[in-house]
Amino acid sequence: MLKHEISFKLNGKSVTVDAPFGINLLTLLREYLDVTGPKFGCEQGNCGACTVLLDGEPVNACLVLAPVVEGRKVVTIEGIGTPEKPHPLQTAFTEHYGAQCGFCTPGMIISAKALLDRNPNPTREEVAEAIVGNVCRCTGYNKIFESILAAAEQMR
Ligand code: FES
Ligand code: FES
Repeated sequence: MLKHEISFKLNGKSVTVDAPFGINLLTLLREYLDVTGPKFGCEQGNCGACTVLLDGEPVNACLVLAPVVEGRKVVTIEGIGTPEKPHPLQTAFTEHYGAQCGFCTPGMIISAKALLDRNPNPTREEVAEAIVGNVCRCTGYNKIFESILAAAEQMR
């Protein structure tokens, strides 16, 4: 199989990986770098389960070809907090029951982080706009809104 080398910053660390031609960023992360926070959902850009930050902007990793990240910065849910030192969004999702099965949660939190990074005081409508591409089948969204707004308040 034809491979090529891709070098980029992943969660603050420089990585270089040999990857086959034609794979997407989601596959690169999960299958070649063992970063499994971003989830395989639709693989068509419809569910947001695979959302990561690319140079600070949320993208569907399933729609980004792996070589596109050469020399750039990728942040996944693993890069924003740890169990010992969670990001306020991760804490808020736990405290406000914003996660049930948790499948959508990594992508949801990444989209929310991108929002709070540019707008620390969002309205409920702005939160809804920010997560419009993230599908949740469990929570009915109210708990997610509450979690994101609580984290915003905490971070201000
Ligand atoms: S898996 Fe990428 S948007 Fe659904
Ligand atoms: S918590 Fe289950 S899909 Fe959102």
